[in-house]
Amino acid sequence: MVDDALWNATADGVVCSDMKAITYAQFGNTEVFELTEVADPHPGPDSIVVEVKAAGINPVDYKVREGYLAGLIDTQFPVVPGWDVAGVVAQVGLDTPEFQVGDEVYAYARKDSIGGGTLAELVAVPVRTAAHKPSSIGFEQAAAVPLAGLTALQTVRRAGVASGQTVLVHGAAGGVGSFAVQLALHAGATVVGTASATNHDYLRDLGVTPIEYGDGLVERALAQSPAGYDIILDYAGGASLDHTSELLTKGGVVASVADPRAATEFGGHYVWVRPDSTDLEELAELIDDGALKVEVANTFALADTADAYAELEGGHVRGKIVVVP
Ligand SMILES: NC(=O)c1ccc[n+]([C@@H]2O[C@H](COP(=O)([O-])OP(=O)(O)OC[C@H]3O[C@@H](n4cnc5c(N)ncnc54)[C@H](OP(=O)(O)O)[C@@H]3O)[C@@H](O)[C@H]2O)c1
Repeated sequence: MVDDALWNATADGVVCSDMKAITYAQFGNTEVFELTEVADPHPGPDSIVVEVKAAGINPVDYKVREGYLAGLIDTQFPVVPGWDVAGVVAQVGLDTPEFQVGDEVYAYARKDSIGGGTLAELVAVPVRTAAHKPSSIGFEQAAAVPLAGLTALQTVRRAGVASGQTVLVHGAAGGVGSFAVQLALHAGATVVGTASATNHDYLRDLGVTPIEYGDGLVERALAQSPAGYDIILDYAGGASLDHTSELLTKGGVVASVADPRAATEFGGHYVWVRPDSTDLEELAELIDDGALKVEVANTFALADTADAYAELEGGHVRGKIVVVP
């Protein structure tokens, strides 16, 4: 709960309330999660403290939890995991004129080290990672947007998707793919997307021609676009890029967020999503204009975070999963 008492400082000016949060003290599987109490965060000069209404979860969270990114980003144990949030500004920093207490915001609150995440009642969010929330959707849907929506926007832009092009999207019904297909369609492209059969009607409703991934992919993909694809966007990794040379048109461009071969072997782009408040504002505008829909597959309580990740780690979520404190 956020109330006035939470902000009562001691005589030293130190806020001393605790909040509920998910934490882990070592790398591992979902069994390392604990629902516990930790000191509530301070905003810092260029951050805001957000009362978390909902937190989106992403595959990178469990890769971090399992220690796979330990050589890339420093970790502060005990870790409060999570980078996506939608909520209300509870406290502003010393110099954060972009936001006022009470503003509804959303953020891809990735910091320079792992810890102080969004699976908590409160989170400190650098303003460079935040924007005002789209007004046409609720907090749960908004929390599903930041990381996946930014990834989609930044790869579609980097690959240069344009009107009249034909685009193949690997992993089209997942968290990132769901946004990317809509952004490519919005740019005026024709979109073919890979997904399991259970997601084909979902993709058709978005305006995408669905095909199954796996054996026979090249034949199925070329049946839809015999001349090949101007752009291939990969949000699945694994074997998805194996047949890229057969599927790309001459001069075609591939971008992947899951397979560095996109750059090293196929001369395209291996993209790492960046927090970016201007891009979040652009996504909010597209959502409020009705150009971008947000699919939330399931919502879990904070105490059930392990179940939320178990579902995500199954690898077949349609759209996004959200946790609500
Ligand atoms: N580099 C970055 O900045 C960045 C950013 C975001 C995500 N990523 C990575 O990108 C990947 C996707 O992220 P996400 O959030 O979209 O994950 P997600 O929501 O879990 O979606 C995964 C999707 O992959 C599909 N899929 C599973 N196996 C497949 C296969 N063999 N071929 C094609 N598609 C397959 C599933 O479709 P069906 O259910 O239809 O089977 C599912 O919809 C993850 O590895 C994630 O870590 C990287």
